[in-house]
Amino acid sequence: MYPDRVVSGMRPTGAMHLGHYHGALKNWIKMQTELPCLFFVADWHALTTHYDDPAVIERSTWDMLIDWLAAGIDPSQSTLFIQSRVPEHAELHLLLSMATPLGWLERVPTYKDQIENLANKDLATYGFLGYPLLQAADVLIYRASQVPVGEDQVPHIEMMREIARRFNHLYGKEKGFEEKAQDAVKKLGSKRARLYNELRTEYQQHGKDAALAQAKAMLDDAQSLSMGDRERLFGYLEGSRKLILVEPQARLTEAARLPGLDGRKMSKSYGNAIALREDKDTVSKKIKTMPTDPARVRRSDAGDPERCPVWQFHQVYSDAPTRAWVVKGCTSAGIGCIECKQPVIDAIIKEQEPMHERAQPYLDDPSLVRAMVADGNDAARKLALDTMRDVREAMGLAYT
Ligand code: TRP
Ligand code: SF4
Repeated sequence: MYPDRVVSGMRPTGAMHLGHYHGALKNWIKMQTELPCLFFVADWHALTTHYDDPAVIERSTWDMLIDWLAAGIDPSQSTLFIQSRVPEHAELHLLLSMATPLGWLERVPTYKDQIENLANKDLATYGFLGYPLLQAADVLIYRASQVPVGEDQVPHIEMMREIARRFNHLYGKEKGFEEKAQDAVKKLGSKRARLYNELRTEYQQHGKDAALAQAKAMLDDAQSLSMGDRERLFGYLEGSRKLILVEPQARLTEAARLPGLDGRKMSKSYGNAIALREDKDTVSKKIKTMPTDPARVRRSDAGDPERCPVWQFHQVYSDAPTRAWVVKGCTSAGIGCIECKQPVIDAIIKEQEPMHERAQPYLDDPSLVRAMVADGNDAARKLALDTMRDVREAMGLAYT
């Protein structure tokens, strides 16, 4: 009923690195060519854990936007914006909070995990508990159908779906819905109206999914309907409720995972990261000093790629012949580690070249980023206001 749309966000808590690129950004870049996409800087989410250090958030926001553009997010295809510049996210968060059971928030796995992982911070805050609910508002406010995220975020998407379902259940009961829906059926014209009623009966009484699909396709074609009537007719097909919020799907990142230089997860705080726009010499130095299979003490010792983090980089960056060369050379001590690392260094530098090029105009003239994001904020806000109009009305806050 609502158009397919993609929404995702990232928290601006530090510079972006190649782990983010291979873990998330590549997926975004692919999706922007397939569907309308909205990508935003989740600055409020960053505050839930960095409330004592807001300066890093402001700085990282601009750096992150440049990193996205450098990586290939195209503002002529995607809408880029800053969460706090669309304050309706906060309004929806508040309204959703009224009917969200505390238990739903407390049992989200990241809640207890993060409190333990970040033991040096006091996260027993109201804002942190609400993290996944704010995230639900971020997505539901655009009636997004798909959310590209990593595995760890799946429970958040599950909760959003429950929130949307509960909202529609509680507030989708429009007064006089049945009559309004029947009026809308008449507006379809007599031939279509008859078909609509037949298909609806077929679906509701005999559970025929094909009938539902056919009816939906017919409504998609019925140009003359107003948005409100269209929603009613979609809701009426399946039951007697209006669908105000849409249940989104998680789109898991399939891109290869790139670990850090030491083989652990790549993270700035572990000191094992390569920045997205790292300069060439630093890339080269970082890879050259990367640990290798600890068993290869001397050049003449054979090694085992499976015990070497460089091998994981080859799996992301090298073609099959190069990988075969590594396996053979390593296990027979035919190549040295410095030699083995060179193709990785070359591939990373090659990957980053267009990123440096794309970033340059924005570095030369920061007002370009400001202007680009101002457009994005406006475009996002327009969509958000559409949904909020319906949400306010459904919750009795329209005051017309
Ligand atoms: N929680 C997400 C993360 O840590 C960031 C985020 C905030 C997000 N709001 C979102 C992701 C909405 C997808 C959709 O990665
Ligand atoms: Fe690692 Fe390559 Fe050295 Fe083998 S030869 S230990 S794979 S760096």
